[in-house]
Amino acid sequence: MSESTIDYIFSRFKFIRVISKHLKIIMKKISKNKITNEKIEKTGVMLRRYNPSPSSESYTELNANKEEILEQLNQKGLYLGLKLKQNTLNSLLTLSNNSKLIHNRTKQTFNNLQEVNLYNKGNKKPCCIVNLVDPSLKNLSDLDHLIDKIARDKNILQLANSYLGKVKAITNILTWTTVCESEKIWREKEHTVFFHYDIHDFNFMFVFFYLTDCDKMSGAHELIQGSHNKKKIRHLIGPVSYSEKQLKKDYNLNDFKIIEGNAGFGFAEDTSCYHRALIPTTKPRLALQIRYH
Ligand SMILES: [Fe+2]
Repeated sequence: MSESTIDYIFSRFKFIRVISKHLKIIMKKISKNKITNEKIEKTGVMLRRYNPSPSSESYTELNANKEEILEQLNQKGLYLGLKLKQNTLNSLLTLSNNSKLIHNRTKQTFNNLQEVNLYNKGNKKPCCIVNLVDPSLKNLSDLDHLIDKIARDKNILQLANSYLGKVKAITNILTWTTVCESEKIWREKEHTVFFHYDIHDFNFMFVFFYLTDCDKMSGAHELIQGSHNKKKIRHLIGPVSYSEKQLKKDYNLNDFKIIEGNAGFGFAEDTSCYHRALIPTTKPRLALQIRYH
């Protein structure tokens, strides 16, 4: 049985994730004085940092203390009060504007979003998502370095370490989600616009930052609060995706939360909650997604 099959089967169960967290805490204590092998690599359009240590500078602002944030993550699977510092946001936007855009499925590259929009016009198989980490560059770009430093921001890494027991790896992607018409089957292959929960690993959490103003018409993220703690047997043993219609019967409507925010706004989420991306119809969305394992 492959590692991904084991993750697919077991990581959906809360008790396995709790055991995984406690094992990581024990391992952290045992290996306290050992030198860990910290390294970074690109995996396609993703940046992956192993055994991360905190950045020397701070890139974010939190408006609550760690205990309050952990409480919200444990109860709701969501904390809404992260923010990028203004100078960090400005640097990210400047570097993003000077970066190539890569469509991962077709490997097409574009110099800017206008070129992507031109390509997408009237195209039923458009680029719904384009990435900014360029796999063809041998060395890390300035943008790659900045993304990595933000992901290792002291406040956020400390939070992820507390939530998961210990962070073994961080995976980052920076993407534009475009406004385009598309065949449904094409979009769903590259853009998770259907409700699902993640099963990346035995334990994981996400931090998202919107780098453009984002509302329900421009690609906001939606989740069902608390669903990481409340799944029915059929949710656990069946497919990880479910229809909106069925989930609205299974969960309280007040727990469906569309997350809107201005550029720089961020949130932490346990994506074992049911969640999805909304399709942008008025404006594209630039967002940084950081996954902690
Ligand atoms: Fe997901």
